[in-house]
Amino acid sequence: MRIAVAGGTGVVGRHAVAQARAAGHEVVVLSRVGGVDVGGVDVGGVDVGGVDVTRGAGLVEALRGADAVIDVTNTTTLSAAKAIAFFETATRTLLAAEEAAGVGHHVALSIVGIDGIDSSYYAGKLAQERAVATGPVPFTIARAAQFHEFAGQVLSGMRGPVALLPTLLMRPVAAREVGAHLVRLAEGAATGRASDLVGPRDEILLDVARRQLAFDGLRRRVVGVRLPGAYGTGLASGALRGGADARQGRITFDEWLRSEDHVRGG
Ligand SMILES: NC(=O)c1ccc[n+]([C@@H]2O[C@H](COP(=O)([O-])OP(=O)(O)OC[C@H]3O[C@@H](n4cnc5c(N)ncnc54)[C@H](OP(=O)(O)O)[C@@H]3O)[C@@H](O)[C@H]2O)c1
Repeated sequence: MRIAVAGGTGVVGRHAVAQARAAGHEVVVLSRVGGVDVGGVDVGGVDVGGVDVTRGAGLVEALRGADAVIDVTNTTTLSAAKAIAFFETATRTLLAAEEAAGVGHHVALSIVGIDGIDSSYYAGKLAQERAVATGPVPFTIARAAQFHEFAGQVLSGMRGPVALLPTLLMRPVAAREVGAHLVRLAEGAATGRASDLVGPRDEILLDVARRQLAFDGLRRRVVGVRLPGAYGTGLASGALRGGADARQGRITFDEWLRSEDHVRGG
């Protein structure tokens, strides 16, 4: 198969690309900056840097001949309006290009348990899901829990000696396992909504951040903060851990910390 991975240079995207290649697929990597060797991981594939999925120039050409598109693009914002604008525009632009190029399956990655927490970034993910479900291309929406890489992503986005982390109960999963899940879904027929994918254990964001900093030998103070309002209540409620019917990854956070997937200080 020919599989295009939009956001294929990102945290989960590079795993999807590497695993699609390992499974023998032809892979096209779409991103603005590009670069097939990102963070020391050779993701392989045909690199199409310079493609912005919110604008669309060059997208139809890049997608011609693709059987499926995996969308793992992302934006970093705590503004609901900006998140909605990004995910809606990116999804509609990608779907229009897929329709024009004759792509038969769009696989979108979303987040487990966000339905009752419709604020901030999650409002953007819910808008993305709606745009996919009402779009012109057969689709599969896969939801995953926070990645093991998530604590590092949050910490690296915060400046200063003290990091304030929201009270967040989660069941994190390795991005490697999410990437493999997305490739398996792209190989099959469009199913609408796929099973949720969560990790093997419950964790608290503050605890995993502290374990990661200690493992990496970094001295940084992290403090938990219970966020006010529906968003804070939702994060602390455990809803993001998913239900009993979710598929479970095998790699625990501590196994991931010791694995080659964890870049120290990253
Ligand atoms: N992180 C988590 O814990 C987690 C958990 C569950 C689901 N998810 C979902 O997984 C997806 C990927 O997350 P991630 O953490 O892997 O993201 P990430 O590391 O921030 O990577 C984002 C990717 O998107 C590309 N990108 C961003 N804007 C683009 C644009 N306008 N046009 C083309 N490419 C663009 C980036 O490359 P360029 O910068 O070169 O464009 C990069 O390859 C997100 O939708 C997120 O909601 C994440």
